[in-house]
Amino acid sequence: GKPVVILGIETSCDETSASVIRDGNEILSNVVSSQIEIHKRFGGVVPEVASRRHVENVNDVVEEALTQAGMTIDDLSAVGVTYGPGLVGALLVGVSWAKALCWAKSIPMIGVQHIAGHIYANFLSGGMEPPLLALVVSGGHTEIVHMPAHGEFEFLGRTRDDAAGEAYDKVARAMGLPYPGGPQIDRLALEGNPEAYAFPRAWIDDESMDFSFSGLKSAVLNTMHNAEQRGEPWKQEDISASFQAAVVEVLVEKTVRAVRKTGVNNVVVAGGVAANRGLRAALAKRAEEVGFSVHFPTFDLCTDNAAMIAAAAFPMYEKGRFHDLDLNAIASLSL
Ligand code: KG4
Ligand code: ZN
Repeated sequence: GKPVVILGIETSCDETSASVIRDGNEILSNVVSSQIEIHKRFGGVVPEVASRRHVENVNDVVEEALTQAGMTIDDLSAVGVTYGPGLVGALLVGVSWAKALCWAKSIPMIGVQHIAGHIYANFLSGGMEPPLLALVVSGGHTEIVHMPAHGEFEFLGRTRDDAAGEAYDKVARAMGLPYPGGPQIDRLALEGNPEAYAFPRAWIDDESMDFSFSGLKSAVLNTMHNAEQRGEPWKQEDISASFQAAVVEVLVEKTVRAVRKTGVNNVVVAGGVAANRGLRAALAKRAEEVGFSVHFPTFDLCTDNAAMIAAAAFPMYEKGRFHDLDLNAIASLSL
């Protein structure tokens, strides 16, 4: 039949993004306008600044996505838009834009939860079906989620304090590296010794699939502070490699626990930290040893983008699960 063409819109944080997807996993365009250069000056995302930039950018970004896809708004089957979690002022820009378009063109609107979007980034490679386990590792979230069917999510574990990406960003900041710190630490870690420092691993207990990264973060900060007090040098490379080894080991072993506990042996990784090369290598190795499959999005689809939002909207479109035009942005929307 007629192809399903979905426009995705993502404005939950510091990227304004629009994407056109055909039949759920064929990316016709994926335009990401990053505000990182603007927020770098402040060492993090300034919500008010982010909202204003989305307002300025969203129209151009959507038009560019349609042009690159060779489509017009009349070709669209539906619009999928992130409505939470995120910065509420930022989310409202995308939600309002989607509503206006869907009202004017009488097409269905599908509100997408941002983390579901990150999980669905894995579906853009094709051939992916639930049931699966998702290791969610972003700037705001660190969770192990069981997804028995499309749009259904059960939490097996979550962080009790900092998210993994947040820990990366805070440690990077303490080392004097620019925002966002994750990619910088990932790069430095390749050159350092992962055993230079024995940083703590928070196992919590033998069964738990919960995470805790604040103790690790404090240990890293204390190590640098104490070395400075004593006038001893420390190397960014060794701190990065040792910190990353601690984060990755816990993420990998708790994922193995989840596989053993549920018997679900299909794992996808989601969120910005899924781009981490140390995590990708270690999880792939353990998956082979233990005997489960693991899938990562391509690098460009790990961080925030609208293609993943359109991909998550697709199964909802097929089920006819649409939102009314009174859809609101929800800062703390859960999966
Ligand atoms: O998913 P995302 O783009 O935004 C949120 O929804 O939070 O994730 C951003 C986070 C930041 O904390 C960033 O430092 C981290 O992902 N990140 C990485 C890497 N690339 C991005 N962390 C570790 N290694 C990376 N290569
Ligand atoms: Zn995200």
